[in-house]
Amino acid sequence: MQQQNNILPRIGFVGSGRVGKGLAWGMARSGQRVLAAASRSLASAEQLAARIAGCRALASAQDVVDCSDLVFVTVPDDAIAAVAASLKWREDMAVIHCSGATEVAALSPAAAAGAKVGGFHPLQLFADPEVALAGLPGCTITIEAEAPLLPQLEQLAQSLRCRTLRLPAGCRARYHAAAHYAAGFVITLLNEAAGLWQSFGVDREDTIRALLPLLRGTAASVERSGLAQGLAGTYSRGDIGTLEKHLAELARIGPDALHLYCELALRSIPLGLERGGYDEHHAEAMRERLRRALQS
Ligand SMILES: NC(=O)c1ccc[n+]([C@@H]2O[C@H](COP(=O)([O-])OP(=O)(O)OC[C@H]3O[C@@H](n4cnc5c(N)ncnc54)[C@H](OP(=O)(O)O)[C@@H]3O)[C@@H](O)[C@H]2O)c1
Repeated sequence: MQQQNNILPRIGFVGSGRVGKGLAWGMARSGQRVLAAASRSLASAEQLAARIAGCRALASAQDVVDCSDLVFVTVPDDAIAAVAASLKWREDMAVIHCSGATEVAALSPAAAAGAKVGGFHPLQLFADPEVALAGLPGCTITIEAEAPLLPQLEQLAQSLRCRTLRLPAGCRARYHAAAHYAAGFVITLLNEAAGLWQSFGVDREDTIRALLPLLRGTAASVERSGLAQGLAGTYSRGDIGTLEKHLAELARIGPDALHLYCELALRSIPLGLERGGYDEHHAEAMRERLRRALQS
């Protein structure tokens, strides 16, 4: 990737969906030279380019490659390898994908042509590019690349006012699976709560309105105090009486609700212990009740 005499690289996007737009707009806002975009449909590339002075929407991905030093392949995960294989790359450029789970090796056709390759995964939900753009500063971008591309991508992330995390090769699937616990699975758990409240007449919208401030408070507590000291509730204190009430009620609802609760509760006990809320003897008494419920 050319970055001579402090001239910023010419950045292009292949794939103008939610991440392509969010990142391209963020990079342009931070002064980077986002000059070209393509997509499966020209309309998507035009939407991306419309908000960036000097950026062109091009009909062909190859044209984007040919006029860029740094190309972000922001297509769906399953299309990355095919897109990489369909284009002609140069050795004086770099090619990046933004997938959390896909190995950088998906870009091997570009590497075979001598291009530098890497991963640049923003730990942010891009359900809506506008919301993601607003949320970019402060979020972490996980980077997998070798020098000299690595520090260049770190600089790029810093220009977006993002933190950076380096990912060793071969860890992407594990890394990405774990990230779900702070993103999609939180929504899944809210949905679980909504189902339980619905059984006594509270609708989903009211559930979300009621639980979102609790969720924000939880995030703020973790931010302030860390995982163990930030924990609150039954498993921070070790209230066995409350635990038993929960188990009895969830058993009436059914094994699915009961088992999910027990799995989560069992994983909360080490944090309660670390917090100093109870001792190992008390923890074992809680575990014993939860394991028994899991076998029911
Ligand atoms: N969404 C997230 O929260 C998130 C977060 C971090 C990382 N990522 C990663 O970012 C990447 C893009 O995800 P996304 O959520 O932005 O997906 P998306 O919204 O579905 O956008 C993908 C874009 O790629 C275009 N496209 C599809 N096939 C193509 C092809 N063969 N050639 C050129 N363009 C093609 C689509 O074109 P048209 O619009 O023209 O049809 C679409 O605009 C993925 O690797 C994903 O894992 C996503």
